[in-house]
Amino acid sequence: MRLLVTGGAGFIGSNYVRHRLAAHSDDGVVVLDKLTYAGRRENLDGLPDERLEFVEGDISDRDAVASAINGCDAVVNFAAESHVDRSIASPGEFITTDVFGAFVLAEAAREAGVRHLQVSTDEVYGSIEDGSFTEDSPIDPSSPYSASKAGADLLVLAFQRTYGADALICRSSNNYGPHQYPEKLIPLCILNAIAGDPVPVYGDGLQVRNWLFVEDNCAAIDAVLERGDAGEVYNAGGPDELPNIEVVRAILELTDRDESLIEYVSDRLGHDRRYSLATSEKLRALGWEPAVRFGPGLARTVDWYRDNAQWWEPIRSGDYRSYYERQYGRALG
Ligand code: NAD
Ligand code: TYD
Repeated sequence: MRLLVTGGAGFIGSNYVRHRLAAHSDDGVVVLDKLTYAGRRENLDGLPDERLEFVEGDISDRDAVASAINGCDAVVNFAAESHVDRSIASPGEFITTDVFGAFVLAEAAREAGVRHLQVSTDEVYGSIEDGSFTEDSPIDPSSPYSASKAGADLLVLAFQRTYGADALICRSSNNYGPHQYPEKLIPLCILNAIAGDPVPVYGDGLQVRNWLFVEDNCAAIDAVLERGDAGEVYNAGGPDELPNIEVVRAILELTDRDESLIEYVSDRLGHDRRYSLATSEKLRALGWEPAVRFGPGLARTVDWYRDNAQWWEPIRSGDYRSYYERQYGRALG
């Protein structure tokens, strides 16, 4: 199979390309990625050149998409603006990429007659006090990010119903692991802890997230792509749920730092209190279970950041510094 992987230079996309090429030795992959601040060509380093084609381009550019999809048997869309805080500060880009770009891809996949898997998130369901969301839960997004992802999901499902497009969705809980850009809680805290910078905790730190190791999400996406039914949504829930403050404490322990680094900062606007996603029976029926528990997954993640300073040093010394100052009102050390 020849796959078009959009957003394949980002965190989950690049892990997925690595997973796919390792798991399917005859496959080729075309990555179409705009290389925004979050996309990095070096995330794909070390993969076999003869099986991987990289194209720099935008999913909202019809010509770029038409040319990249040519000769491909399926599309998996990871391309998105993905950070809630950035969507609060500046929502426009989220509509352009996450909604309009997803629409351009849906049209191109339908015209090409190929399978189209939209990578989505549990955030489309909003916050839940008790219990866990299932695929039958209504969508109720809180942030411009989750609303834009919900918009894309609705379009993809409408394309399947209206045109019979071979389109389907995989929604997962919060991912963590190697190559995640340090604007998200886990890599940001790991790098700050390594550097001895304060680790910022929003509000009371008791918001709960459900964590899925990125390789488990890649395996779920592959199962859905290979064996899922068109028009269906599949939820890939993580095995562990923790309040943020416990995640931060675990990171401090793994980096040999103490709790004096914890700094409580202003809460996020519209902050979802709890995400909880049940792994669907439909996904289990496709043969998927999450394999990595949070403890060992976090230890592997900390080790990766410790061993790969050449990956994050250019980020932490570049434009990221001004993002950080704007977001947290203080400079990195
Ligand atoms: P990321 O921000 O690390 O990567 C996004 C990638 O998309 C980058 O490589 C970026 O350059 C590329 N991109 C952005 N705009 C583009 C455009 N217009 N055209 C082409 N490429 C573009 O994000 P991620 O964390 O890897 O998330 C990937 C997908 O998974 C997203 O759709 C996100 O909504 C979804 N998701 C993420 C999580 C999570 O915890 N990170 C959880 C569930 C779902
Ligand atoms: P994040 O990694 O941004 O993912 P999401 O908002 O998509 O769940 O944030 C995870 C949780 O951590 C969320 O409740 C917000 C919180 N958080 C902090 O407390 N401090 C931080 O510096 C960041 C980035 C997030």
